[in-house]
Amino acid sequence: MNELPDLPLGFLANGSNSGIKNAKRDLGVIVSENEAVFWGSLTTNRSRAHCIERAEAIRSGGRPVRALIVCSGNANALTGPKGKEDDAAMARALAEKIGVEPHEVLTASTGVIGHRLPVDKVVSGVPKLVAQMSEDPETFAQSIMTTDRTMKVAVREIFIEGIRVKLHAVAKGAGMIAPELATTLCFVTTDCAMSQAALRMALESAVETSFNQISVDGDMSTNDCIYAMANGAAENESLDPGDTELQVFTEALTDLLQEIAKAIVRDGEGATRMFEMRVEEAASYNDARALSLSVVSSSLVKAAIFGADPYAWGRIGASLGAAAAYVNAAFDPDRLELELQGTTVFKAGEPVELGDAAAVLKHRMTEPEIYITAKLGQGTGQAKAWGCDLTYDYVKINADYATVTRTDDQGQVSVDERLSEFGPTIKKKLLIEALRYIDRFNHVRAVIKLGGAAMVDPKLEMEFAEDVLLLQSVGLRPIVVHGGGPEISRTLDKLGVKSEFIDGLRVTDRTSMEVVEMVLSGSVNQRIVAALNRQGGKGVGLSGKDGALIRAKPIQSSHDYGQVGEVVSVDCTLIDMLEKDGRVPVISPVGLGDDGSAFNINADVVASALAVALGAPKLIFLSDVAGLLDQGKVVSELNGDQLKARIERGDITGGMLPKVQAALSALRGGVENVHLVDGRVPHNVIAELFTDRGVGTLIRRT
Ligand code: ARG
Repeated sequence: MNELPDLPLGFLANGSNSGIKNAKRDLGVIVSENEAVFWGSLTTNRSRAHCIERAEAIRSGGRPVRALIVCSGNANALTGPKGKEDDAAMARALAEKIGVEPHEVLTASTGVIGHRLPVDKVVSGVPKLVAQMSEDPETFAQSIMTTDRTMKVAVREIFIEGIRVKLHAVAKGAGMIAPELATTLCFVTTDCAMSQAALRMALESAVETSFNQISVDGDMSTNDCIYAMANGAAENESLDPGDTELQVFTEALTDLLQEIAKAIVRDGEGATRMFEMRVEEAASYNDARALSLSVVSSSLVKAAIFGADPYAWGRIGASLGAAAAYVNAAFDPDRLELELQGTTVFKAGEPVELGDAAAVLKHRMTEPEIYITAKLGQGTGQAKAWGCDLTYDYVKINADYATVTRTDDQGQVSVDERLSEFGPTIKKKLLIEALRYIDRFNHVRAVIKLGGAAMVDPKLEMEFAEDVLLLQSVGLRPIVVHGGGPEISRTLDKLGVKSEFIDGLRVTDRTSMEVVEMVLSGSVNQRIVAALNRQGGKGVGLSGKDGALIRAKPIQSSHDYGQVGEVVSVDCTLIDMLEKDGRVPVISPVGLGDDGSAFNINADVVASALAVALGAPKLIFLSDVAGLLDQGKVVSELNGDQLKARIERGDITGGMLPKVQAALSALRGGVENVHLVDGRVPHNVIAELFTDRGVGTLIRRT
């Protein structure tokens, strides 16, 4: 990664995680050592966020500022009076820490609309942030990203009467508006000395020909803003409106913001390329602006750019004519001239015969950047606008953002099939992700504990077997451990064997143990083996008693639970042998007692002990939960210490508790990753193992 350009003189920044988002950076600050002149270009959306109101008040007060604080993950918009207090608290926290007045601190935010900001987290995140500020903008740039794929930072340097002045911008935003109105935030800092009036003139002019000339689907966010702070640290003679040097500054700022605006367009959702629409010879500058912007906003043109279609010019001509009518611009197709990638395709009211050039143009339409020029023959007005192509992926992303899986009233989970046909960008991304993991997992042992619905539903069971064989075919070494499911109780009931339960645990005397063993090793185990082998696998069923694989003793308790056991030791010889031969061991959770009797052991515990004994870096629990939940949402990733803290806080209860305890004991024994995956959704193991984000909860050792 290239080094990012440092901030101008007298500015420091930092970004970190405060807990609004799970792990990513979500809080950033920029602080100026001196007072800075401020101007901002603010969203005109009437549902605007509290931070925008604050910026407007500071802007119109004309007073200098000292710092700004930004949070991402929560827009703090449409949150009412409480939200306004939260916004003020955010500013106050930074002001107190750096010793300035709250009205000298700007705020900005981006993320979900209508949710209360976890302001305590923000406030307690401030001291650490301030303690580690530097000229390097990287952590700050990361802290403002949401749907962005890339960081957006740019810099320009100019000389004003021989003095070096720096202009710097950090931004976020994705060219196409996201489902939740992707916000554009841009923070310009400069060490130039200038009056507020001069900064205002420069910023308004630069924004007009950059951010205001990119296509954003017509939706405007509640939080869009471009803040500019000029702190004068360069010590040039202060610029005022009318100074010729202000022109130099404005040009540099325009160029800087155009670079950022284009980067935003390029980062559009699903976008594969950017195009520039230049309108020349318009009757006025305003006509040129309006017409160029209308072309980059046209869905038809955008789709044609995606299709690399040389006849896109027909749609461009149509779009120009429509916009001309709308804004009442002088326009005559007989005077119109259109160029695509430098080739004139339309002139004096008719298409140009391209001959051999047609093939060249066709090829050039596949380039990553497309340049279009329209000459109107009406005057000298000219302007440019930028847009990105409209792709299948855009529709996929936005049509089905959060609803990949659905749960109906009966608790049945199904997968939304609308996502089944992906466009090329998503396909490539997923394949590259997957192939990287395939490479990494070669020869890696993975213990997979099968429990819940996947053991009851024959279709899920077949799909599970298919997944296990897929894992094996890409070089992973799967070892399957299964639980008992509802079958044990059902069989005991059928046979009329009554059991006593103490603290939810079945007291298992020798007679019931015979039934338990029969169900586990005889029935469930053999069904899984059969599912594997029916699909061409080489599954071998084992009881923990076979080859003295698992030695057991009665669980330690003040009660006598009979044949309910815990693991004493594991001997892997048999598994090693089977694996060498390309077989998949399928193990039932039955252990061998000192006296030769059988013990029923919790299958999660068996899986954990086996993973440790086998030196397996991965342990996967498939069960009927989506993962570890926090306020109803799956926690994607955490480490052993964080898990312990959650247990101590009492956040984890019920059936999840023994499972995470088994997970922790595996981590203590050297297992690197424990995954909690929802076994009710077909092929979830594959999605967990071969994508970056996975689908369940990953508990890392460190
Ligand atoms: N596929 C990777 C792995 O198996 C990452 C999984 C991430 N999973 C998650 N729930 N965050 O190691």
